[in-house]
Amino acid sequence: MKHRIPFIFISDFFCFLPSAFCLLLSILFHSCTPTPIEKSLNLVPQPNEILVFEGAFILNNNTKVAFENIDPRNASMLYITSAFSKFFGISPIFTVPEKCNNNSIIFKINEEYDVALGEEGYRLMVSKKKIRVEANANTGLVFAWQTIYQLWEDMVDAEDSITVVSNVVIPCVKIVDVPRFAWRGVHLDVSRHFFDVEFVKKYIDVLSMYKFNVFHWHLTDDHGWRIQIDKYPKLTEIGAWRPERPDSEWRTPQPNRSGEPMTYGGFYTKDEIREVVAYAAARGINVMPEIELPGHCSAILASYPEYACDKYPYRVEVGAYWPPKAIMCAGNPDVMTFYKDILDEIIPLFPFEYIHIGGDEALKGNWEKCPKCLAKVAILNLENLEQLQGWMVREIESYLNTKGKKMAGWIEIIDGDCNPTSLIYAWLGKEKTMEAITRGNPIVQCPTSYCYIDYYQADKSTQPDAIGGFVPIGKVYSFEPVYEGLDSVQAKQIMGVQWNLWAEFLFTSKQVEYMLLPRILASAEVAWCAPENKNWMRFKAALPYQKRRLKVLGYHYCDEVVEVSE
Ligand code: ACM
Ligand code: ZN
Repeated sequence: MKHRIPFIFISDFFCFLPSAFCLLLSILFHSCTPTPIEKSLNLVPQPNEILVFEGAFILNNNTKVAFENIDPRNASMLYITSAFSKFFGISPIFTVPEKCNNNSIIFKINEEYDVALGEEGYRLMVSKKKIRVEANANTGLVFAWQTIYQLWEDMVDAEDSITVVSNVVIPCVKIVDVPRFAWRGVHLDVSRHFFDVEFVKKYIDVLSMYKFNVFHWHLTDDHGWRIQIDKYPKLTEIGAWRPERPDSEWRTPQPNRSGEPMTYGGFYTKDEIREVVAYAAARGINVMPEIELPGHCSAILASYPEYACDKYPYRVEVGAYWPPKAIMCAGNPDVMTFYKDILDEIIPLFPFEYIHIGGDEALKGNWEKCPKCLAKVAILNLENLEQLQGWMVREIESYLNTKGKKMAGWIEIIDGDCNPTSLIYAWLGKEKTMEAITRGNPIVQCPTSYCYIDYYQADKSTQPDAIGGFVPIGKVYSFEPVYEGLDSVQAKQIMGVQWNLWAEFLFTSKQVEYMLLPRILASAEVAWCAPENKNWMRFKAALPYQKRRLKVLGYHYCDEVVEVSE
């Protein structure tokens, strides 16, 4: 008994210890951890978990910045490093993590992979004394950087010019952020109108600001071939040029006049392509080139008429090519050699694993009359001409696979029975998209009704001439890429979403920006935010702040916010 009392007492004491310890910790914790406050910070896309606290970190020329577990000379870190002076006008002291105590910012790559974050997610802790960013990979750090940049609310002053400051105020927050979709794309057609490298970089800058990760570069089409190919120089000597008709009507064919100079156009040299690809990579963006086949090829046939089924004098012209006549002759073996040669030159320029091969709107009027194409159908024992396109597409996919690449194509490629591995760009309606989903193909959603940002965004009478349609920002915001009723396997086939910007009516880079902005801010929330974090009222309230930022950064945008009632 004598011995037992203390024993019981001691054991009770030890049982009690952990909970006492927890209580103590929790008292301590509550006394040092600030309580979150209710405050919206106008971030777009809205982070998936965010707590806002009283107070702010003050970034100034005495702030120390360090990179942990990552080479500060890697391209993404150099981008972040240069952004301090370029975006904030601040020259902090770049140092090593060990020297970072107060007034410091650390960008850290996790030693152990944080599964919750994936490659693009990040944790961002801003306290009065420190900013700490953690991610598994460069991209996560870059996107965290974009969030920090948006957190600087004093960036614009009342006159909407860049504030000249010695102190950059970053509110205290705790953010854990990961994207909803792995594929968050924006496209640009540089064939109908050509945009130079400087502008393409500006375009990429704004995609990175809103955390997109794929730039789909539509490099070839009827109205111009836009990339240097050494083996086929006429593609850029002839195929990149058309008449200069600044006021032309693009809805109808506008045949070239006899003797008219072919002075409008241009193309990117291989060095320029490499420059853009590296620029994008440093900003978290993959560049996917599109090389159209077998249609949308007037620029090719104007350069190399021997690849047509007929003797028609194909030209690079202004205006609609509808119904499109130009199609590469599938019965001519040189045509497949041509495409494989082109891909041999394209592949080393683009490290991204996907190459887009077009495949849309390939009308087969010429094939119907072509003895070589009909003979090919017979030799391959095919049932129809769609299957002839299918054969081409599968051949090209196999070729790309042997080079370590994957293939993407517009949804029409399912009509000729493409492989279930082909990544389908679903630009048509739900019924067609369901066909692709049912076949088991991975899908990037880009239906015209929500994702065609060449369509009008406000009342037509108030807007610059556009191709038609109506996709206001509210409509973009309302897009749900995963249809109700899909099972869990089918839902996973939706790899992501993309917005397409065709350039028939984009005569200047200002017009490109105007159609892009601010609609892609809504796109960014569709692509990035978990559905429960999307909120139109919160987004709409953040728009004036975001537009002021865009203005001081030199972007043009549409000022009308058209809502939708759905
Ligand atoms: C497309 O809009 N023709 C893909
Ligand atoms: Zn043919």
